[in-house]
Amino acid sequence: MRRKSKVPSEEECLRILREEGVADNVIKHAIRVLGVAMELTNRIRLKGYDVDEKLVAAGALLHDIGRSVTHDVSHGVVGGRIIRRRQLDERLARIVERHVGGGISREEAEKLKLGFIDLIPETLEEKIVCYADKLVDGERRVEFEETLKYFAEKLGTEHPALKRLDELDAFFKKILK
Ligand SMILES: [Fe+2]
Repeated sequence: MRRKSKVPSEEECLRILREEGVADNVIKHAIRVLGVAMELTNRIRLKGYDVDEKLVAAGALLHDIGRSVTHDVSHGVVGGRIIRRRQLDERLARIVERHVGGGISREEAEKLKLGFIDLIPETLEEKIVCYADKLVDGERRVEFEETLKYFAEKLGTEHPALKRLDELDAFFKKILK
């Protein structure tokens, strides 16, 4: 018997999103993030980096799956739980958990009652989905600076989340220059 892949295809991801009751506008956003994530993946590969394209695609499509339950800051962690409940690839659960803002440190996660867990994107695939999400507002492609401004207004310029977003942007600008 053929073992089922734990990284679902794009078609399977869309089915999963609908089964979980994710709203249409969130699904449209995810499809737009997929486009940006694939574009980033191609450009990064041309620079000689190894990227798991199927993992990035599934991560991009499923990153907001937790929004079927909540739209607050916990939707990443909630989404990770859904991915694990469905026994999908653990790497996918981490992409989903780590896409919020530029990632959330252990200390902040604890303060936000998300648990004492590190939610900062580490792998290239985690970073690509996180960054692609920051380049799409709803269904609109935006410049990173616009997202940064949004977070600065929401959280204040001194918030550690701002520094992490800056670092994420610097990471990609350095690779892709
Ligand atoms: Fe999100």
